[in-house]
Amino acid sequence: MNKKIEVKDDIYYIGVNDRRTELFENLWPIPYGVSYNAYLIDDEKTVLVETVEARQAGLLLEHLKEVLGDKPLDYLVLDHVEPDHSGSLKDVLGAYPEVCVVGNKKTLGLIERFYGFDGIFLEVKNGDRLDLGGRELEFYLTPMVHWPETMMTYDLKSKCLFSGDAFGSFGTLDGAIFDDEMDAERYVDEMRRYFSNIVGKYSGMVQRALGKIGGLEVGAVCPTHGPVWRGNPERVIGLYDLWSKQEAEEGVVIVFGSMYGHTESMADRLARLLVEEGVTNVYIFDASKTHMSSIISYAWKYKGLMLGSCAYNTGMLPTMDALCRKLAVSGLENRLLGIFGNYSWSGGGVKSLETFAEESSFEVIGSSIEAKSVTEQTDDEKLIALAENMAMRLKA
Ligand code: FEO
Repeated sequence: MNKKIEVKDDIYYIGVNDRRTELFENLWPIPYGVSYNAYLIDDEKTVLVETVEARQAGLLLEHLKEVLGDKPLDYLVLDHVEPDHSGSLKDVLGAYPEVCVVGNKKTLGLIERFYGFDGIFLEVKNGDRLDLGGRELEFYLTPMVHWPETMMTYDLKSKCLFSGDAFGSFGTLDGAIFDDEMDAERYVDEMRRYFSNIVGKYSGMVQRALGKIGGLEVGAVCPTHGPVWRGNPERVIGLYDLWSKQEAEEGVVIVFGSMYGHTESMADRLARLLVEEGVTNVYIFDASKTHMSSIISYAWKYKGLMLGSCAYNTGMLPTMDALCRKLAVSGLENRLLGIFGNYSWSGGGVKSLETFAEESSFEVIGSSIEAKSVTEQTDDEKLIALAENMAMRLKA
């Protein structure tokens, strides 16, 4: 039951919420759920923009029927083929066998492989237009945001930009669909967690895509997940621009891997010292407790990062090791890094963090600090120096 939710100018929101999936992509916890957004353009020619994940195909078709009634469906634009958006393709084709699927060359290859597609297909190239009778759609190829076939669709009449995963967010749409009927700031943290873990690796391609659409007058941003930005589309475009430029706020994220609390006490000491140095945004996370997707999201927000690990079988604590491996491929750049930890009986935690640092693009601040077991006075002096150094660089 969707009951015709109009975005503007005969464009309707017909997406669905998912409150049952525990892990998005079977990786990322979604405690607030996620929406799969789809849209129906009701012009002389009718267009479905995106589908939804397979389990909710029935609901999508129900929403589609509510708007379309007995009219035929002429086109299905697939801006992104990842199955959370193309999963209902076969169901849509079953209900509307004459529909023409619109995508680019890579779209076709993917839907042939994923779904054995052999229906009617219209290939579009960057800048191509499609006449619907009362309006034209224009297509922008935006590869690797975050799959190779990703593209955006712009309606020249309403100025709606169907952006695929770009400008998307975790979190269901609880009654309010549009930013102008909610406090959209409630989505910003989940949006950054979505961006930093799924799209952020391709920040350069996001910047390239922003360049392509930079000249457009955008009346509404219609992404595949999360709120539709109709009141203030500049807000979400600005956030994605900021994050994909790797710009960060003044603050420090401290992450520790600790078995018996000694490395954790170093994290607490560093946090207090940073605050005494005037750093107001300091966060401590336990790598064994807080999901890495949240830690990476905070690391994307703040300029300073401090990583600490005890030794565990001559390496890092495995939970810290997993975080570092994800950080190494996350695309995060331009951060100040401090390293600390505990030798325990073998050493290896701090050394492994140093190896991670050497292979990263982060700038290491000061010297690593490795306590032997309990933190000694000399270790504390090093912690003070590290905190001073970090604070000074943050404020420079
Ligand atoms: Fe929401 Fe990349 O799929």
